[in-house]
Amino acid sequence: MVYDYPKYYEIAFSFIDSKKQIDFFEKLSNKYGIGINKILDVACGPSVQAEEILKRGYGLVLLDLNKSMIEYVKIKYPKAEAIKADMCNFKLKGTVDFAFIMMGSISYMKNNEDFLNHLNCMSKALNKGGLYFIENTRLNWKGLEGKQNWDEEKDGIKIDASYEIKVENELKQILFEEMILKVNDNGKKRVLKESISLKHMFPEEYKLLIEKQGDFDFLGFFDHFKDKQLNDSKQFNFMLLKKK
Ligand SMILES: C[S@@+](CC[C@H](N)C(=O)[O-])C[C@H]1O[C@@H](n2cnc3c(N)ncnc32)[C@H](O)[C@@H]1O
Repeated sequence: MVYDYPKYYEIAFSFIDSKKQIDFFEKLSNKYGIGINKILDVACGPSVQAEEILKRGYGLVLLDLNKSMIEYVKIKYPKAEAIKADMCNFKLKGTVDFAFIMMGSISYMKNNEDFLNHLNCMSKALNKGGLYFIENTRLNWKGLEGKQNWDEEKDGIKIDASYEIKVENELKQILFEEMILKVNDNGKKRVLKESISLKHMFPEEYKLLIEKQGDFDFLGFFDHFKDKQLNDSKQFNFMLLKKK
């Protein structure tokens, strides 16, 4: 439901500093010696990063399962290629040099098979040596459950947002995630909810599955947007893979 309203989702997450993010992607590509021509934003939503990427002259592919999100980015970013597809079952027309998936969207997997299928698709999408940046894997499983609230306002639209995670089934590693946006759009009020049950992946499980799939080198878990490997859990982090 929330994802059917791209504009409201975009306002709720407008605090993101996309310039800083793309600077960091460029830093990583220099460090690992890859030239970037084209970038893939996986589970892009309204793609907070698209404007900055296109401004810097890169080619861009935007991929999301939600029809409204894809229609929104097609209109807003006509220079990008927008694809409505499942990230566990897609094939691009060409290849890219750098791919990213933000805001913990990598967790939108029902089971390990989904993750392996996702890596198979990503392997075909990336050139040799290409990087896959995965933001906010859930490393902090000790304090996983919790709720966050925040407010944003733009163009007369006020959004009161909340995001909550609960453990649904410990044995099957299933989490319940819910996002609620209370919207006041120039006086018109509505409440949008998005909830889903997801498979929780533990850090060592990610590493095993990446090794099993076989096409990527696991470069590490890193501190959020810092070139610093993590030795312990952290809520905000990224995992970096390199296509062999
Ligand atoms: C948390 S939002 C992230 C949006 C954006 N990347 C960001 O950082 O703001 C998650 C997005 O994942 C998309 N999504 C969920 N499951 C998906 C799947 N299997 N394949 C592709 N996109 C998916 C949703 O439609 C939604 O737009």
